[in-house]
Amino acid sequence: MKIVLLGYMASGKSSIGKRLSKSLDLQFIDLDDYIINKEKASINEIFKNKGEIYFRKIEHIYLKEILEKNTDFILSLGGGTPCYANNMNEIIKENRISIYLQSSVTKLSDRLIKKKSKRPLVASLADEKIPEFVAKHLFERRFFYEKAKFKVNIDNKSKKEVTKEIINLLE
Ligand code: S3P
Repeated sequence: MKIVLLGYMASGKSSIGKRLSKSLDLQFIDLDDYIINKEKASINEIFKNKGEIYFRKIEHIYLKEILEKNTDFILSLGGGTPCYANNMNEIIKENRISIYLQSSVTKLSDRLIKKKSKRPLVASLADEKIPEFVAKHLFERRFFYEKAKFKVNIDNKSKKEVTKEIINLLE
């Protein structure tokens, strides 16, 4: 199985991905970590030193590199990955199971406020500006996320419950 988890920043893609990888005994790959490893720089450093356009270019290249592996995996994407280049069309190809972790603007904003620092798109925003930013950004991005094969709402559920729900979907 090639499972791809997508959704907005702070929707729990990496933590759910790790849990799924343990439960299903599949290799876990986090696209941001893969990029950090390959580029030998943090996401913040890449944005700061080379810019977002460069980041989107390498994000596309590394995404393709992972998707074309012969092995099975659980892949957690970055929040913007489905929305650039032709990425979403690659992600939804037949042998790939794409899952959108969906959440409300309020919940995403609350979680993002606590985890702003490693995310260059929101790091410099004041906490009170985050909900307005997330509302607009999610409105633009939802079009891409909604193309996923499955959609799982994560609000008011524990990570364990979300993981179980996904495993049930896959059966
Ligand atoms: C981004 C999300 C981040 C990371 C980069 C850009 C985005 O990943 O790829 O900061 O455009 O939404 P997470 O979704 O893991 O925060």
